[in-house]
Amino acid sequence: MATITSHSPADTFAHGSALATTLRAGDVVALDGDLGAGKTHFVKGIAAGLGCEGDVTSPTFTLVHEYTGGRLPLFHFDFYRLESEDEVLRIGLDDYLGAGGVLVIEWAGKFPAVLPAGTRWFRLRAVTGSAKGDGDIREITEEARA
Ligand SMILES: Nc1ncnc2c1ncn2[C@@H]1O[C@H](COP(=O)(O)OP(=O)(O)O)[C@@H](O)[C@H]1O
Ligand SMILES: [Mg+2]
Repeated sequence: MATITSHSPADTFAHGSALATTLRAGDVVALDGDLGAGKTHFVKGIAAGLGCEGDVTSPTFTLVHEYTGGRLPLFHFDFYRLESEDEVLRIGLDDYLGAGGVLVIEWAGKFPAVLPAGTRWFRLRAVTGSAKGDGDIREITEEARA
């Protein structure tokens, strides 16, 4: 399990951008971590790394945001307000999985069973105030899961 340390929102963004260069059509990136841990900043970086257009905002109320214009389309989900696997499936998760883009899902750990094998899991964690950079220290850990 590789952990990287972020010292600022810009740092978290940069780590997302770096991850984006490794992503291929159909890939799923699952994010877990408390409110304010930096999940949405990480997704902003992924979008930028893919070259997608538009300002990335949390899809908490709209459930999924689509960003196009980049190397691959990005489908950004947030499971925070969803209450059942059924609800996730009603959003059309399966259709998005086959749509030739990248899926990134905040609060994915609420419904891990709906995600395909090969999903890449990342946990973001607030650590302490940062001495360098202009933010707090966050750890971003890629976790091995089945
Ligand atoms: N190293 C860091 N990485 C990411 N965000 C940070 C960092 N340090 C401080 N922050 C702040 O933490 C908050 C993270 O918010 P956000 O990305 O929306 O989190 P989440 O989507 O996990 O709720 C922002 O207000 C951001 O400015
Ligand atoms: Mg968020």
